[in-house]
Amino acid sequence: MKTLSLIIDCDPGVDDAVALMLAFGSSELELLAVTTVGGNVPLAKTTRNARMLRQIAGREDVPVHAGADRPLRRKPAGAGEFHGEEGLGFMTPFTPAKGVADGHGVDALINAVMAREPETVALAVLGPMTNLALALRREPTLARRLGPVAIMGGARSEGGNITASAEFNVWADPEAADEVMRSGCRITMFGLDATHQVRATEERIAAVAGIGTPKGDTAAAMMRFSQKVEREIVGWDAPPVHDVCPVAWLLKPELFELKPCRIAVEFQSELTRGHTAVEFRVDPAEAPHRWAVSADADGVFALITEAVR
Ligand code: RIB
Ligand code: CA
Repeated sequence: MKTLSLIIDCDPGVDDAVALMLAFGSSELELLAVTTVGGNVPLAKTTRNARMLRQIAGREDVPVHAGADRPLRRKPAGAGEFHGEEGLGFMTPFTPAKGVADGHGVDALINAVMAREPETVALAVLGPMTNLALALRREPTLARRLGPVAIMGGARSEGGNITASAEFNVWADPEAADEVMRSGCRITMFGLDATHQVRATEERIAAVAGIGTPKGDTAAAMMRFSQKVEREIVGWDAPPVHDVCPVAWLLKPELFELKPCRIAVEFQSELTRGHTAVEFRVDPAEAPHRWAVSADADGVFALITEAVR
């Protein structure tokens, strides 16, 4: 079985947590590192949370490196209402046995990619794109050396979730998203158009909970918290599990339909800050990006259920 070398950059975050349980349980992935960024909750908490989740999954072989604690230009802005004060829903924080790895997350990303054959290291970005933007500034050849870059962010037909115009990850650091979109990275973006099709229904949560392992119990608990919040804030009862999409695509690309496009990011206007302008009227041979337009949610949840077994 061919393994895929992968770095996951994230801001856990309850849906990041489900994505990490999927990745930690997938033997097809060689996880080189988890890097963290300030986002849903501040960096100290996203980094502690990544270490907690790593310990629960029994994957202390994977180093956790702390990255940027703030956006390139903007003030840090959280999304605690969707993730809980500590970032992992109802879970009571504990001090993980294994610490943070030496070295900033941005350097860990650069070093891991530059030490390997070109295009052999994939990257999943599940939070604001600050770390990738900083890495691209620091290592100009990184865009060419990186393999597939799968990003959760943006919105086109679905509208925004943090403002009417924008999805949270892009809104939180629009300058970083702009630099990443213009970098030449091989980007596939999973915006709300796709992630809103991947919802944690009662049946799907029960299937994950029914596995009866620490990874399964944790993933189910995260989704149960999202279910509660979704009911209270949005009025729906099946929350989208956004961040599993990039990881599921890297594991099983056929679960998603992609369209070639050019994605531009608004960072001038406060009203439409973080809007992603996804232009499909491009020559497919020239298109710099891919945008996910549909997802096989049952297929994604089958991957999650298997990974936590
Ligand atoms: O808009 C959804 C994204 O914002 C997800 O990555 C979620 O974790 C939050 O960070
Ligand atoms: Ca996230």
